[in-house]
Amino acid sequence: METSRTQVVIIGAGPAGLLLGQFLLKQGIDHVVLELRSADYVLGRVRAGVLEEPTVRALRDAGVSERMERESLTMRGFDLMWNDKHVHIDFGLVNKVATVYGQTKVTRDLMEARLAGGGVTHYEVNNAQPHDFDTANPWVSYEKDGRQFRVDCDFIAGCDGHHGITRQSVPSEQIRTFSYAFPFGWLAILADVPPISEEVAWINHTDGFLMCSLRSKTRSRYYFQVPEGEDIKNWNAGRFWAEYKRRLPPSLAGKLVTGPALEMSLTPLRSSVSTPMRFGRMFLAGDAAHIVPPTGAKGLNMAIADARRLFEGLKQFYAGGRDATLLDSYSDDSLGRVWKAVRFSWWMTNLSHKLSDNPFNREMQIAELEYISQSVAAQTTIAENFCGLD
Ligand code: APR
Repeated sequence: METSRTQVVIIGAGPAGLLLGQFLLKQGIDHVVLELRSADYVLGRVRAGVLEEPTVRALRDAGVSERMERESLTMRGFDLMWNDKHVHIDFGLVNKVATVYGQTKVTRDLMEARLAGGGVTHYEVNNAQPHDFDTANPWVSYEKDGRQFRVDCDFIAGCDGHHGITRQSVPSEQIRTFSYAFPFGWLAILADVPPISEEVAWINHTDGFLMCSLRSKTRSRYYFQVPEGEDIKNWNAGRFWAEYKRRLPPSLAGKLVTGPALEMSLTPLRSSVSTPMRFGRMFLAGDAAHIVPPTGAKGLNMAIADARRLFEGLKQFYAGGRDATLLDSYSDDSLGRVWKAVRFSWWMTNLSHKLSDNPFNREMQIAELEYISQSVAAQTTIAENFCGLD
């Protein structure tokens, strides 16, 4: 086995791992990133696209915002629609904006900065495994190109997503996971067609939710609700557009521009939170610790917030001093924010989706949407949560 030593081993090169790596690189804290997949595979995953202000600040502070400043769009609000009605949620109510910039681009910016800064990333590693994280001498083993490696370190950062190994390595009596699966998913299309509107719309339709979203002025991302167990093989772009148009309010249907699919995917809608987020010298960050349904656009923002918080703790630790407490409070501090984002995502999902065949549920949703449309207080609450709680 080939051995080496570093200060921090980051497992996973998604947004959480790459941002943590970028901060550590800038700070001169020695570390290595281990990623199961190839760089191209990681870059090819199409995911979220709405950034909260704290996320934008984190990317600026990490020195990876140049392209984002140039190419992103500013989102000043969104529409909630039902029947032939709508309410505009104006972010001006909380003096904030959101930023439209795809996760793929965030990932690419972080990868490029890492390469330029000389950060070490090992892609296509197998069997990464954290060891002895309940001691002062943790280490990680992995395989690459048929060779075995061992890296000794001070800390392990579990940034390996929902199916990763770090959370699964924690003894079951030390971790508690709270999960909820909605009995439906989202079918999504990404297409190079101009968006119906530069404002994102969440639409509650009797046959299920749909959403108009965008990645740029020429690239649209549209979704609609499908029942649990739907098979993506049953769908092609033509069938997607037909069903999407059928559910769109007439005011929008006429503006829909269709085109070939760059990507189509099916996403289950689930919430899951694992507590705590620290196990001795191993920390979980991002999807490794929590996932949310995409309805509130929170997943990426939560991953970035965790990575930043973990970096602040590590920076403080390596700076020395007896008051280095941020690592100790990492789990509690992160979970405080996480649960609120999980709640908002769950609430947005319940408000906008077909929950069952019982018409009572929809009447409750309509009553709530009517209330929101008449209450600036309710609109302010939504804007505050959507733009991100600091
Ligand atoms: N060893 C090494 N790497 C692994 C392993 C493993 N055993 N298991 C998973 N990984 C890698 C995955 O291939 C992936 O690249 O960890 C990375 C985790 O990245 P993400 O899943 O993107 O998670 P995170 O960085 O927390 O970002 C969360 O992604 O799922 C979306 O909505 C979510 O936008 C949010 C963001």
